Amino acid sequence: MVTTTAGVMEQRVEGFPRHLLKDPSLLKTENFVGGEFVSGDSGSFAVFNPATNEEIARVSSFGKEETRKAIEAASLSFMSWKKSTPSNRSDVLRKWYEAINENAEDLSAIMTLEQGKPLAEALGEVRYGASYVDWFSGEAVRSSGGYMDLDNRRAMLIRQPVGVCAAITPWNFPVAMITRKAAAAIAAGCTFVVKPAEATPLTALALAELARRAGIPAGVFNVICGSNPKEIGLELSTNPSVKKITFTGSTNVGKILLEQSASTVKRACMELGGLAPLIVLEDADLKKAAVQTVANKTRNGGQTCISANRIFVHKSVADSFVSELEEIMKPMKVGNGVDSGVVVGPLINAAAVEKVKSHVDDAVSKGAEVVLGGKHLTELGENFYAPTILKNVSMDSLFCCEETFGPVLAVIPFENEDEIIERANDTDFGLASYVFTESLSKAMRIGEALESGMVGINSTALSDARAPFGGIKQSGMGTEGGPTGIHEYQNLKYVCFAADS
Ligand code: SIN
Repeated sequence: MVTTTAGVMEQRVEGFPRHLLKDPSLLKTENFVGGEFVSGDSGSFAVFNPATNEEIARVSSFGKEETRKAIEAASLSFMSWKKSTPSNRSDVLRKWYEAINENAEDLSAIMTLEQGKPLAEALGEVRYGASYVDWFSGEAVRSSGGYMDLDNRRAMLIRQPVGVCAAITPWNFPVAMITRKAAAAIAAGCTFVVKPAEATPLTALALAELARRAGIPAGVFNVICGSNPKEIGLELSTNPSVKKITFTGSTNVGKILLEQSASTVKRACMELGGLAPLIVLEDADLKKAAVQTVANKTRNGGQTCISANRIFVHKSVADSFVSELEEIMKPMKVGNGVDSGVVVGPLINAAAVEKVKSHVDDAVSKGAEVVLGGKHLTELGENFYAPTILKNVSMDSLFCCEETFGPVLAVIPFENEDEIIERANDTDFGLASYVFTESLSKAMRIGEALESGMVGINSTALSDARAPFGGIKQSGMGTEGGPTGIHEYQNLKYVCFAADS
């Protein structure tokens, strides 16, 4: 590995509008390993602005060998970090939290330019991502074990860091999906190597620079980027020094990582795909339900795992509900996330647009009606798709079997409330579900019967650092954030003492 020169750095961010940053030194194009920004021997790859498809930077690409060296750096650093005190870990996380918040506007600008979400929303994500660091700064000193009286023996239960943790994170939340894993690992005394998505390395590298400034010791937090995710993923999931693998992304990739990590029996936390049902019962407050539904489907342009893919609405209120949705969605401005007033940005790339188009076309061919949108907005650029409402979507449409990842509301009418749980659960996925009703007993009954890790009752705002985030079935295993998030990075050890009288 060689450290690159400032001249190379300048060339690598030629296309980036640096005037948008208060502190352009946050823009990094080398990977962060052992406390230094370094490049490897595997060339570089381009980062594009999804709003314009312009190249904004070239980032150093790592392959298998460089990944192995990053794991070695994390292993070396684990030898001392595991002995750090909880207060020490809490303090450095607090400094990282403060640094993220102080640089929140720059982080948001970097995120919008490489990911596309509107600036205000990017700022919201930075604050949300920082809240995980805040939360785990507190958890570092709160996490404790236990004690049991076993008659003639005593049991001490202690929590110890699992070791080097490897993470693979997605492009849809370039800050929050890193911080909710990294902060938990660091709080537990683990060291961490993260491979961010190829589309969003710049935000991850800016987080690394802030971690360095915050005094997170060298090798505790490492960021490795690369244009060959399979090669890096294989090394991360098979290297025996890695003791835990954590991934947010598709179910298919999650299965591959689980299979690969089985040979060294790694612990795993998988946040995989979803196909969230959102159920609007006859007695729901339709206005409130519509506000929440649109917020859920336009957050990050519908590109979230907890986005409602199937919107089941009781037949008797379906038309009124669709009118409420239309009233909210129609005025939403679509465009480049840096432009003022824009609330829906581009999708991540042309393939994402193609997928959304194919879902809409499929539903329409099976009888759905387009109430709003239903168009590729080519006049804005290659990656824009109009906020869309479809009604009378049928159960055999692609919306009912594949995650769409776009700003499309697929409204499916239903008549029989007793069948709705079965219809909602008729999927291999189980991440999030939502129910809208004014009846407490229905909310309780349906909320408990839905097969998903998270259920929103009259709310779609599930995401919160203080609450456990995670799915069941093929949506994954383990939970992140909340009171148990740190446990994912700890081994629970039982120490037995003889207690002869
Ligand atoms: C996602 O995984 O797509 C959603 C993340 C969140 O809401 O925290």
